[in-house]
Amino acid sequence: MVDKVLVTGGAGFIGSHLVDRLMNEGFGVVVLDDFSGGKRENLSSHLGEPNFCLVEGDVRNEADVKSALEGVNAVFHLAATVSVDLSVKNPLLVNEVNVGGTLNVLRESVRADVKRFVYASSCAVYGEPAHVPISEDHPTKPTSPYGVSKLAAEHYCKVFCEVYGLETVCLRFFNVYGPRQSMGPYSGVISQFIEQLKRGKPPVIFGDGTQTRDFVHVDDVVAGALCALNSEECVGNVINVGSGKETSIKKLADILITLFGVQGIKPRCSTPRAGDISRSCADLSKAERLLEYKPRLSLKKGLKQMLIEQVKHENVSEG
Ligand code: NAD
Ligand code: UD1
Repeated sequence: MVDKVLVTGGAGFIGSHLVDRLMNEGFGVVVLDDFSGGKRENLSSHLGEPNFCLVEGDVRNEADVKSALEGVNAVFHLAATVSVDLSVKNPLLVNEVNVGGTLNVLRESVRADVKRFVYASSCAVYGEPAHVPISEDHPTKPTSPYGVSKLAAEHYCKVFCEVYGLETVCLRFFNVYGPRQSMGPYSGVISQFIEQLKRGKPPVIFGDGTQTRDFVHVDDVVAGALCALNSEECVGNVINVGSGKETSIKKLADILITLFGVQGIKPRCSTPRAGDISRSCADLSKAERLLEYKPRLSLKKGLKQMLIEQVKHENVSEG
């Protein structure tokens, strides 16, 4: 029976929500994070709790991973360099962390006799889709070093399942959003638009805004990840986790402008981004079948909830 779980990248955006849920469900939780992208603050409600342990370390470092795996019987491997843009600028770093780091965590998991290993992959493995919605048997032709790194790590997961008997499951997350999403030059489009609108500036769209993404709320992603811990059928598989809905970037800007109540502001189009794909939308049939996964939050509802939580958080921080 799984009772103690390691979450690599647990101080990050998705990882910290997963940790909240696992702690609520009564699991013992270890987080391994180097804080290169994550924040201690994301874990503040668990620090000092007896069934929670924080290991500050690097997934590339054998000793750090070994110490984080003590007594652990399941792993959620989320630690990664996550920006597509940064991967174009620094492909070596992305390869070291996302491929080398994953291989290290896989190998140590086998040594530590871990049962289940859930890997946070990405729809970036598909590259430019030939059709949407995208099912898991769609060809994989990543268009960025980031996408290549996630695909290579998936292959390692498959081999570790077949050769070493580690129960690996790869979840291909689509564009995840929600509270605690990081803000910075390499952050996702939703954080960028919110930040621009907060400053009274127009959202800047790269290209003409007709490109689409499948935006999925972090609570739905966490629910999917938890199902992957328990389902027997999902072992050795790659499975999409998205919303199953396609939204253009222009439409996203319009929804946020309406939620901010600043109808006078119009989005500004700028140069298209290198390596960008034009469409994305998940086919969720396999997730429904193997994980009984069903996304609950619509984009409008999810964004509204996210903005309300941000205001609450800012009021608490200021007061
Ligand atoms: P994030 O940057 O918030 O979280 C990643 C965490 O990994 C951070 O806390 C960071 O400090 C940690 N980390 C990075 N390098 C590390 C290293 N060498 N050793 C230890 N820790 C390290 O990003 P996120 O959005 O929460 O993404 C989590 C996972 O989900 C990643 O694997 C990412 O590729 C995948 N994913 C995310 C999305 C998305 O839309 N956010 C979509 C598809 C897949
Ligand atoms: C994102 C994730 C990546 C994940 C992938 C899965 C981030 C930083 N990256 O990449 O980890 O694997 O989803 O699909 O979360 N855009 C603008 N203006 C902006 C920012 C972006 O128009 O200010 C556009 C981009 O050009 C792109 C779209 O919005 O067309 C989405 O960009 P982004 O949020 O960075 O996500 P992905 O590149 O899809």
